[in-house]
Amino acid sequence: MLLPTVVSLFFFFSATVQASPCVAFDTNWNLLAFGFDGKDWNAGTQDTWSSSSAAADITTSDRPPFDAANTTCYLSQYANAIYAINADSKNPSSIYIYDATAKSWSIQTVDAGSFDYTSFDAILDHDTNVFYALSHGNLFSLDMGLLKAANSTPLNWLNDEQVPYPSGYVPVMALAQNHIHFLNVADVPSGSADIFVIHYSYFQPQAQAYPLPDGSAFPAIYGQATSFFQADNTVQQEFAFIPEDSSATYIINVETNTTQALAAPTTQDPKATYFAGVTALVQLTSNGTVSYLPYLEGNTSTNAAATWASVSNLAAAAPPSSTSTGGSSGSASGSHSASSPSSTTSGANVGAGLHYGMLIACVLCPIAFVMHL
Ligand SMILES: *[C@@H]1O[C@H](CO)[C@@H](O)[C@H](O)[C@H]1NC(C)=O
Ligand SMILES: *[C@@H]1O[C@H](CO)[C@@H](O)[C@H](O)[C@H]1NC(C)=O
Ligand SMILES: *[C@@H]1O[C@H](CO)[C@@H](O)[C@H](O)[C@H]1NC(C)=O
Ligand SMILES: *[C@@H]1O[C@H](CO)[C@@H](O)[C@H](O)[C@H]1NC(C)=O
Repeated sequence: MLLPTVVSLFFFFSATVQASPCVAFDTNWNLLAFGFDGKDWNAGTQDTWSSSSAAADITTSDRPPFDAANTTCYLSQYANAIYAINADSKNPSSIYIYDATAKSWSIQTVDAGSFDYTSFDAILDHDTNVFYALSHGNLFSLDMGLLKAANSTPLNWLNDEQVPYPSGYVPVMALAQNHIHFLNVADVPSGSADIFVIHYSYFQPQAQAYPLPDGSAFPAIYGQATSFFQADNTVQQEFAFIPEDSSATYIINVETNTTQALAAPTTQDPKATYFAGVTALVQLTSNGTVSYLPYLEGNTSTNAAATWASVSNLAAAAPPSSTSTGGSSGSASGSHSASSPSSTTSGANVGAGLHYGMLIACVLCPIAFVMHL
């Protein structure tokens, strides 16, 4: 009786490490997976994802530990750089930069000001390389220049203005044609988005409708959104919206003002995150399972028939966690870290977290023992 209790306490407390991985594409459309089992991986281009031979280990020095909650990654297409926010619990306001050409990491110091990096949604504008984020009812911006390596001069989150949306709005943001689309704003009908025009710093007073061909609409509920890139490095024209109930995958096209409803994710996880490339939408679930929906811009019949598939070479390299039974956050994090005695910085940090968990578990041993008598 005692041993299982100690073991479950161990996993319960180690779950407080809250590691969260992220996925992103580079500009050659290699799928990069950061912070999986304490390492980083390159799963290659879409034609290799179904391979059973493992993705390439790209773990290298100066990488973030990926030990914070809610890590998010963004691709700067001009710089071929990936920016990671909330990737290091010890440097929460810093942004880590991965130069996907040089395959190297650096850490950019950022003055957060009044920006709350524990509560926001953000997009990285394609053309200006400026982050726009909504946090606590304010629109913030952070100019990344064209950085593919950190600059010694700190950057600043600027509080630009209050947004004209009801207070308490939990942002769902998507970028297309230099317009930020805000989904699920109260009082905006389903199938429509409120819009901020970046180049004019202008909140469009009227919502824009994006109906489906049959006249129906995507639901007005919370969810995740991510923009499809263009292979020729022009501005995004389409974004995916996945409602948190995973009932469908909606692709909104801001050129035609229409929406397609495609196959719902096979894994229905309200905590899943998504990242689109040019020809695929990728899902990362909270236990580290990575799947994708192939997508061909403009090819309605192929898209309608498309189904979600596993990124097998990544699963072969970094198997999803199997201990999803230990409570809500345990699945997300604890076991990702638990399985990798790695010599990298990340391994060391995660190891420290686990030792802390073990310490707490052992402090509680006598209590558990007494409770089981
Ligand atoms: C992570 O995100 C969840 C859901 O948005 C939020 O409740 C939580 O406060 C966030 N935690 C941190 C540390 O950012
Ligand atoms: C789509 O909506 C935008 C913004 O309202 C409008 O400017 C544009 O003309 C519309 N495009 C089409 C094809 O209806
Ligand atoms: C759609 O994709 C299929 C399969 O790749 C292809 O055979 C077909 O020609 C495409 N249709 C259009 C309109 O692009
Ligand atoms: C991860 O979660 C998915 C969906 O909840 C589940 O189907 C899968 O079995 C889980 N994987 C592991 C290894 O636990």
